[in-house]
Amino acid sequence: MSQRTLVLLKPDAVKRGLVGEIIGRIERKAGWTISALELRTLDRAILEQHYAEHVGRDFYEPLVAFMSSGPVVSMVVEGERVIEGVRALAGPTDPIAAPSGSIRGDFGTITRENLIHASDSEESAEREIKIFFPGIS
Ligand code: CMP
Repeated sequence: MSQRTLVLLKPDAVKRGLVGEIIGRIERKAGWTISALELRTLDRAILEQHYAEHVGRDFYEPLVAFMSSGPVVSMVVEGERVIEGVRALAGPTDPIAAPSGSIRGDFGTITRENLIHASDSEESAEREIKIFFPGIS
């Protein structure tokens, strides 16, 4: 089943020079393609939309500060079961719990700075793609 998903390479990934490494892992999956890609610094307004479900949580304000601390790479990735697939490549939210071989397991240590975001469902993907790439349908 071909799907599309919204992927963000967070400011820690960009600052640490891990963009090529992470995109390489995505590109090497058979049949997946990157159909939109942008480097940009996110402002509070877009982060409030993206993280609407987390407003009011104790980690929300530090998360917004971190996510606006430098440029991120935003991408739309398309292909077979790509929603589940990119989340499998990323590993679980807590990088210490993430297995080695996953992006977070290989490169992360703290939960906030966990390198990559990937949509968790088809509904989230469509919602998030509209936020980051309003020009594509
Ligand atoms: P992600 O799953 O992409 O989207 C929500 C983000 O909030 C998550 O990645 C982490 O960056 C951050 N996050 C989630 N839970 C915590 C937590 N307990 N402490 C700090 N940051 C968190």
